[in-house]
Amino acid sequence: MRATLILAILSLMVAIVHAGPGTHRYKEPHSNYGDEKQNKHHIQEHMKAMAKDDDDKVPDLSEQDMIYYLFVIHDTNGDGYLDGHELRAAFTDFDEDEVQDLDLTLQEVTDMVDHVLMEDDKNGDRMEHLKNLHFTPETPFGLPLYPFFEKAYEAVVGEPASKFRYIPSVTPLSTVNEVTMTCITYFIVIFGGRFLMTNVAPFKLKAPFMIHNVLLTLVSGILLVLMVEQIFPIFYRHGLMAAICANETWTQPLELLYYLNYLVKYWELIDTIFLVLKKKKLEFLHYYHHSLTMVLCFTQLNGQTSVSWVPITLNLTVHVLMYYYYFRTAAGAKIWWKKYLTTLQITQFIIDLVVIYFCTYTYFAYTYWPHLPNMGSCAGTETSALFGCALLSSYLSCCP
Ligand SMILES: *[C@@H]1O[C@H](CO)[C@@H](O)[C@H](O)[C@H]1NC(C)=O
Repeated sequence: MRATLILAILSLMVAIVHAGPGTHRYKEPHSNYGDEKQNKHHIQEHMKAMAKDDDDKVPDLSEQDMIYYLFVIHDTNGDGYLDGHELRAAFTDFDEDEVQDLDLTLQEVTDMVDHVLMEDDKNGDRMEHLKNLHFTPETPFGLPLYPFFEKAYEAVVGEPASKFRYIPSVTPLSTVNEVTMTCITYFIVIFGGRFLMTNVAPFKLKAPFMIHNVLLTLVSGILLVLMVEQIFPIFYRHGLMAAICANETWTQPLELLYYLNYLVKYWELIDTIFLVLKKKKLEFLHYYHHSLTMVLCFTQLNGQTSVSWVPITLNLTVHVLMYYYYFRTAAGAKIWWKKYLTTLQITQFIIDLVVIYFCTYTYFAYTYWPHLPNMGSCAGTETSALFGCALLSSYLSCCP
């Protein structure tokens, strides 16, 4: 059982990693730093040149030393990276007569430079890094993650991720009709199912339940990390107000991530089917929350409310932990942080309410009652703002 699961997760990860940039073109094991003997000679040339004494003894070098020397010598602008020009210089600066020996054509040098840039370009910015990770506001996780997602997306969908647009009534599940039909079907299935189960013994479903939960943990985690990578630079460079209220914050990558998050809400309806088949208590809050979260995501996607990332990232954070909790408890584990999960859910809910009410207030004050204190307009349609407030508030009144 455990082995099957681990295998499933591993193959998923392999698929994701395999889809990433920088696939190997060369089958044979090789070093990008060239033949050891030739390198040693090359470095000796440099040292002799520096010492201006051809007879100087040059110390014996380990391979690590050699790579380091090669790097430092050729990092001419001293920025800690080897770019294409510096690599080209590194490959061509041999002694005059040696060049004739080697007889390198410009094409060969270009190929070598491209090869190294391809092979060692681990973070996709066509720079060779000594350190693998590089933390900037644009890469809060040390390397750009969205390109990995784009590869995986294109492999699955067959179309570049940058082509995606959410177009109401063209994109699947983008109409009121589809959403309503899903809600009706959901209620028929869960209540019909509960009725049919009255005289049937509860199903165990341990393995499917665990797979369902571990996959939701992974998918929520991936979406969360990708969204944070998109939002963090906006927040860092333009501030919180722009991050929640500017029209520009509604970007194409975020729209795609929001749409995928919306699709995950459909998948999460299966949670309830598990409850029914296992004959667990079906709480009002559970199916109310599940169906309304889906409707909420739908309205915000249509209304293009830039603030969407606040409730969505908080919701994803809670979901990563919650589905992991279900996954572990299904296997019989005792989770000590269970009580903090509830605290986290309440905190999430309060932050959501404050932020959404703030955005709605400042928008309406700015637009209709400018004499009231306000912080300017806020991106998104009025309908979606009112829907957001109403749905969130209904959680307050229904479920203390
Ligand atoms: C966003 O764009 C719309 C339409 O162009 C405009 O009416 C609105 O004022 C803009 N909102 C913000 C916050 O810039």
